[in-house]
Amino acid sequence: MRLKDKTAIITGAGRGIGKEIALTFAREGAHIAAVDLTLPEIEATAAEVQALGRRALAIKADVSKWDDVESMANLVNKQFGKIDVLVNNAAVWAGLKGKPFYQISEEEWDRLMAVNVKGLFFCCKSVFPFMKDQGKGKIVNISSAVHFIGAPFLVHYATSKGGVVAFTRSLAKELGDYKINVNAVAPGITMTEAGKEKGTKEMHEMFVSRRALKRPQEPEDLMGVITFLSSDESDFITGQTIVVDGGVALH
Ligand SMILES: NC(=O)c1ccc[n+]([C@@H]2O[C@H](COP(=O)([O-])OP(=O)(O)OC[C@H]3O[C@@H](n4cnc5c(N)ncnc54)[C@H](O)[C@@H]3O)[C@@H](O)[C@H]2O)c1
Repeated sequence: MRLKDKTAIITGAGRGIGKEIALTFAREGAHIAAVDLTLPEIEATAAEVQALGRRALAIKADVSKWDDVESMANLVNKQFGKIDVLVNNAAVWAGLKGKPFYQISEEEWDRLMAVNVKGLFFCCKSVFPFMKDQGKGKIVNISSAVHFIGAPFLVHYATSKGGVVAFTRSLAKELGDYKINVNAVAPGITMTEAGKEKGTKEMHEMFVSRRALKRPQEPEDLMGVITFLSSDESDFITGQTIVVDGGVALH
């Protein structure tokens, strides 16, 4: 087991990639704090984690709200006694419709940045005191391959995911002295419910055709890298962004 007895906070763990991370980590021996906006979904994730024999907490929190995030970190530390891993996966993504940049409202732009960028900052800030005291920690930020290749009609989303990479690089340099590793994973279009809704069948065929490895990308395709970056195996790797997209963006 690569994460035996580690404790991990996974944001956006109610569905999609976040839920897959929670269950994968539990199979690797970790105890899980599943964080999301609504309780029924994270309670379901927590129940599946417990069925795998690990401890689980379902925490309702909006990552864009500091009070929610601070309470989240305090609760996890109180219940589990430590915080080893934070995976910043929550994002405004499901339901996001592509549109010309000049039709994006200020409200849409601000909400996206509040969750996808400020939420990441808040979550890192909330776990830092605990990881610092432990003298070790792993932070994995979920970016997107779109920021390398450009995403017309999704400029707010692509900008936020580029921000995740800049944040990752800068924080990694700042936290090295505390032995806290900060890395990012940049997925290509992935067949979660939210990923499937982006584009027509023909567009998805086109996405596949641009890959060196020509098949749809599934959430499981991301789990090896995310687990690796959360485990002791990656102790000397920090500030990196690993693209998992079947070979479209070559970084
Ligand atoms: N699926 C893809 O094609 C794809 C590709 C590249 C990157 N990504 C990234 O991977 C991550 C997961 O993608 P997914 O397809 O599972 O998306 P998703 O939209 O299905 O899941 C995101 C989760 O985050 C939660 N969330 C949203 N706002 C939140 C907030 N303010 N506070 C707490 N939780 C919040 C949602 O409720 C949801 O459960 C996202 O960061 C996304 O940007 C996805």
